[in-house]
Amino acid sequence: MNAPDLQTVSIDLQDRSYPIAIGGKLFDDPLTYSGLPGASSALVVSNTTVAPLYEARLRAALQGKYQNIHSVTLPDGEAHKTWETLNLIFDALLNNGCDRKTILFALGGGVVGDMTGFAAASYMRGVPFVQVPTTLLAQVDSSVGGKTAINHPLGKNMIGAFYQPLLVICDLEVLTTLPARELSAGLAEVIKYGPIADMAFLDWIESNLDALLAKDPAALAHAIQRSCEIKAAVVGQDERESGLRAILNFGHTFGHAIESGLGYGAWLHGEGVGCGMVMAAHLSQRLGLVDLSFVMRLTRLIERAGLPVRGPVLSATDNAGRYLDLMRIDKKSEAGEIRFVLIDGPGRAAVRAAPDALVREVIDACCA
Ligand code: NAD
Ligand code: GLY
Repeated sequence: MNAPDLQTVSIDLQDRSYPIAIGGKLFDDPLTYSGLPGASSALVVSNTTVAPLYEARLRAALQGKYQNIHSVTLPDGEAHKTWETLNLIFDALLNNGCDRKTILFALGGGVVGDMTGFAAASYMRGVPFVQVPTTLLAQVDSSVGGKTAINHPLGKNMIGAFYQPLLVICDLEVLTTLPARELSAGLAEVIKYGPIADMAFLDWIESNLDALLAKDPAALAHAIQRSCEIKAAVVGQDERESGLRAILNFGHTFGHAIESGLGYGAWLHGEGVGCGMVMAAHLSQRLGLVDLSFVMRLTRLIERAGLPVRGPVLSATDNAGRYLDLMRIDKKSEAGEIRFVLIDGPGRAAVRAAPDALVREVIDACCA
């Protein structure tokens, strides 16, 4: 893969600011890590799929900087984003005598990144960590912005902390091994940024979708850069989601219900988000915020990206009721009232409640 030149996006959070480096040949270059604070030890956290592919190269790059480099390999998959798996990271830290300066490296997709971040936030009340995201989804979204979490059987990402990394390394080369289904899942989060913030970016994605699906390095680099710029701008204004940041959850209220309703891992997170955006767009249209042509345009793009556009049936007896029950367990809910991220005109999002009857109509119309 011929990688474009290095680009850097900055996330501006006062003393918690950090760079997001995007390019090729980054994650295994010792220079990438030269600005990090010194420590006697580092812990590389990865999983059973990613570790055999990339861990040795990351360890080699860190060799000159850290005296003791430890590693822990987690089971792979959303179903393992749990307390039990999180504890494996704490076991590795304690068994290896890691101290307050030990630096954690999250080498993997969003699941590894979210769990490593949460472990870093809580080990000895906080140790530094670096994100080395290896999926498109993690490069455009989860590694940036400091949301860390594990799942609870009753709700997705319900237990976690806001905790920023020191550095994010988006290396395009690692995407060469990413399966097509995972690439599509990442595209859901790329597409998300268009309707909520930047219609010119949506136009660009429509024109360049084939190049993105073919993993063209220049197209991927632009998609990652623009996604990170939009996310950095939002997080820079509202780090802890007291308002604006909620727009980044477009499609997630329906999507999280799909993920937890089917059992974590049945649908990929990005698949839930893709289909959830279709459902949220329909709800926006029924509330009179966008016209049907916009909904159809977004649906076509999501389908072209290889993502499902019809929701699964979660209950044979009362499907809409099941969705509603699951959606009430959402971090945006207030006093049991579901709050949806809606498209309030192309390129603009708003967070609002909607009448249950209307939400039921959307679910009935959008589910297989
Ligand atoms: P994932 O971490 O499960 O990775 C997807 C799959 O790809 C896994 O099987 C993984 O082992 C494999 N993989 C990763 N990199 C690879 C590579 N380079 N080559 C081959 N295989 C590779 O899933 P994801 O889509 O990266 O992340 C989804 C998670 O991210 C969800 O848990 C979601 O809640 C979370 N998320 C968090 C935020 C946030 O702001 N923190 C934002 C969006 C999503
Ligand atoms: N992925 C949503 C957020 O980071 O706020």
